[in-house]
Amino acid sequence: MSEPAEDPDVVSRRIARESLDQDDPTGWFERLYSAASEGDAVVPWDRGAAHPLLAEWVEESQPAGAGKTALIVGAGTGWDAELIADLGYDTTAFDISPTAIQAARRNHPGSQAHYVTADLLAPPAAWHHAFDLVVEIYTVQALPVELQPAATKQVSEQVAPGGTLLVIAAARPDDVPDEAVEGPPWPLTRAAIDAFATPGLRLIEVIQSPSPADPTIQRWRAEYLRE
Ligand SMILES: C[S@@+](CC[C@H](N)C(=O)[O-])C[C@H]1O[C@@H](n2cnc3c(N)ncnc32)[C@H](O)[C@@H]1O
Repeated sequence: MSEPAEDPDVVSRRIARESLDQDDPTGWFERLYSAASEGDAVVPWDRGAAHPLLAEWVEESQPAGAGKTALIVGAGTGWDAELIADLGYDTTAFDISPTAIQAARRNHPGSQAHYVTADLLAPPAAWHHAFDLVVEIYTVQALPVELQPAATKQVSEQVAPGGTLLVIAAARPDDVPDEAVEGPPWPLTRAAIDAFATPGLRLIEVIQSPSPADPTIQRWRAEYLRE
C-alpha cells in the first residue's frame, strides 16, 4: 500500500520552520510556492480573489487610476494587482518568489499588470518615490520582527509625492511582546503601523476590524499620503 500523502498544511508550516531555523527568513516563500505548484503544499494566503479590505477601500475611495502608477508589494499570485490594474493604474506587482510571479502571469493571461521578481529589502532604485499608489498586504508581517523596520521603510520610500500608501495587516495588541509571537506571521502593533509614516508621509486614516473568518483576529487598514 502506498503512503498517504502528507497534509499540505503541515508541509507548508514545515517549509517555513525549516527556512527560519536555518536563518533564511525569506527562502521559504519560493520553496512553498514551488511545492504548491506540484500539489504538495498549500499557500495559505492565496484567496483566489483580491483581499476584501482592499476591495472595501476601492469601493469607498473610488480611486481613478488613469495616468497613474501603482506598486503591489509581495503580490503573490496577483489577485490584488488585477483589481488595481483594472482601475486603470499602470501597475507593477512584485514578489520575491519567481514561482509566485509565474503563477500570477499564468492566472491572469492578458493582464495589464507588470509582474516582476524583486526583493522588498533591496528594491530597484528606479522605484524610489515613483508610485502614485503603493499597496502592502501581509508582506511586512510575514518577515521576522527584526527585519520589519527595514521592510517598512522600503514600502514607504516607494510612494511618489502626492501618492497614497495603503497597508493591510493583522493586528497585535501593543502589550504583546515580540518574544510572545511565534510567527510566521508576526502581526503588527499600532506602533508598527505608525512606523510607515515619515516626516513626508502622513497617516490619514487607520481602521481596525475583526476578520469575518475568525473574529478573534483583528486587522488594520491604514492609509497614508505623501505631501
Ligand atoms: C503572507 S504573503 C501575502 C501575499 C499577498 N500580499 C496577499 O495578501 O495575499 C507574503 C508575500 O510576500 C512575499 N515576500 C516575502 N518577503 C518578500 C520580500 N522580501 N520581497 C518581496 N516579496 C516578499 C512572499 O513570497 C508572499 O507572496
